[in-house]
Amino acid sequence: MRVRSPKVAVVGAGAVGSSLAYAALIKGVARHVVLHDINIGKVRAEALDMAHGSQFFPQATVEGSDDVEITRDSDVVVVTAGAKQRPGETRMDLAQSTVNLMRKVIPPLVERSPNAIFILVTNPVDVTTYAALKISGLPPNQLFGSGTVLDSSRLRFLVAQRCGVAVRNVHAYILGEHGDSQIPIWSSATIGGVPLLEWERQTGMLGESVRDGIAEEVVNAAYEVIAGKGATNHAIGLAGTEIIEAVLRDEHRVMPVSALLDDWYGIKDVCMAVPSVVDRRGVGRNLRQPLQDGELGALHDSAQIIRATLTELGF
Ligand code: LAC
Repeated sequence: MRVRSPKVAVVGAGAVGSSLAYAALIKGVARHVVLHDINIGKVRAEALDMAHGSQFFPQATVEGSDDVEITRDSDVVVVTAGAKQRPGETRMDLAQSTVNLMRKVIPPLVERSPNAIFILVTNPVDVTTYAALKISGLPPNQLFGSGTVLDSSRLRFLVAQRCGVAVRNVHAYILGEHGDSQIPIWSSATIGGVPLLEWERQTGMLGESVRDGIAEEVVNAAYEVIAGKGATNHAIGLAGTEIIEAVLRDEHRVMPVSALLDDWYGIKDVCMAVPSVVDRRGVGRNLRQPLQDGELGALHDSAQIIRATLTELGF
């Protein structure tokens, strides 16, 4: 029996979409990667530039087209299309224009791949994910957002750097909005299995002021990169690829993706990043790790910010 090799469609061939497609090819995530963008010159050139490197990544075909038909029968559809955050602009400033774009972009994609898992990356990703979910009519497991997977990676990088350990030995989450109201969950963070607050007691390396400084660096990370090069793309491309891998390899991975919440510690009817199981069915169970009062209160505030923007936009 011929097993059909997985197909990933990346919608939007800008800096993020191109980096994500490139990362997916390099990591051998799928045998068929297609790029779709209305800018025919750009999308074809990006796909051709990657195809020219075929010798150097695991066997895969990569194509690009301005015709949405190229996305038909995808297993995973990643939506990165949208306006770029300009220097000084918040992600929420993009909300109205992005939701208008989703109304155009989502239906034709769902029509051609009704069984695909949809991963939203476009900012403001929590608002975009909720809007896209309602527009698509899909069940909530089938469409979710990249959430704070990238922010959590930034947090882990900075903690690892301060403590002189490998990033993969740091387990810590940023939860809530992928944006200015995000929250570091220090209470359940561990370094090499040692609770972070115990690590602080033993080494004095991560006092409250250092932790606050790290949290500040994470929330400002995108602004800093955008000021320097006009966009962020490499890290979000890698984060998006990690999520695609969890779906296509049915990994049951716990990831802080932006999922539709239905009474998560009392938070409901909003898409926001909480630790959730990601596998071939998309996003599943939301985990409820113990939280300190300050953390829970801040998560409720973050949810309220997302909900208020959605209400403003008519959702
Ligand atoms: C960032 C963009 C993806 O945080 O929002 O880099």
